[in-house]
Amino acid sequence: MTIQQQTELYELPLDLKPELLPKHVAVIMDGNGRWAKRQGLPRIMGHKRGVDALKDLLRCCKDWGIQALTAYAFSTENWKRPQEEVDFLMTLFQGVLRQELREMVEENVQIQFVGNLEALPRSLQAEISRSMEETKNNRGIRFSVATNYGGRQEILQACRAIAQKVQQGILKPDEISEEVFEGHLYTAGIADPDLLIRTSGEMRLSNFLLWQMAYGEIYITDTLWPDFDRAEFHRALCAYQQRERRFGKI
Ligand code: IPE
Ligand code: IPE
Ligand code: MG
Repeated sequence: MTIQQQTELYELPLDLKPELLPKHVAVIMDGNGRWAKRQGLPRIMGHKRGVDALKDLLRCCKDWGIQALTAYAFSTENWKRPQEEVDFLMTLFQGVLRQELREMVEENVQIQFVGNLEALPRSLQAEISRSMEETKNNRGIRFSVATNYGGRQEILQACRAIAQKVQQGILKPDEISEEVFEGHLYTAGIADPDLLIRTSGEMRLSNFLLWQMAYGEIYITDTLWPDFDRAEFHRALCAYQQRERRFGKI
């Protein structure tokens, strides 16, 4: 690769307008299993390759000036998979976190996890706490990993927390505004995604960011997650920049 080509890869492509970039991109990283099957490999190999695709996307968002990235790593429904696959994923998350933490600290990434973290293996919880603690003062890209995340479950836990405050007299029912509600979601303090990308062609939210995606743009590609690269991301951003976001207006 020439220096010229290399620079082009890391700089924002010329056909993208910096002022029209999404501030927050969310991804449903789907299709790892199918990718592996097509290569004649066990499903877990797809998950391993999927990690590389995510690492590259994070770097790309950083290079191109996107402020926040949220990735769906494990849903509340994914526990229904074979135990072997679930165990592999938990071990994979923990290993990747341990391996990548130093670089994230240095690269000014602020990592956080959204979801019901208490149900995760203790050793993974420890690694998660450590990574959030060590990157909490970083002010570069905000990287959220949705782990044991479910949109319905997130909304319910917010309702419970709010109900408790009402019962204790801390909050009145008519004070429950959108802002107050959002403050009780796992994503409190993170702006809603402007663009949601789903790979592998499935046209559904699969319980991801149900509240937050009220007005987010959706982009679906047939590409399977391990094959999602900068060129694919570039295409998604081009499509996004063509959209007219009306928010109910005319
Ligand atoms: C997404 O890929 C990764 C996780 C849900 C953890 P899948 O494992 O769902 O891959 P497919 O959809 O079976 O191909
Ligand atoms: C969504 O993918 C969850 C993640 C990518 C972590 P799934 O593969 O679990 O979604 P469904 O089952 O096809 O809806
Ligand atoms: Mg899937």
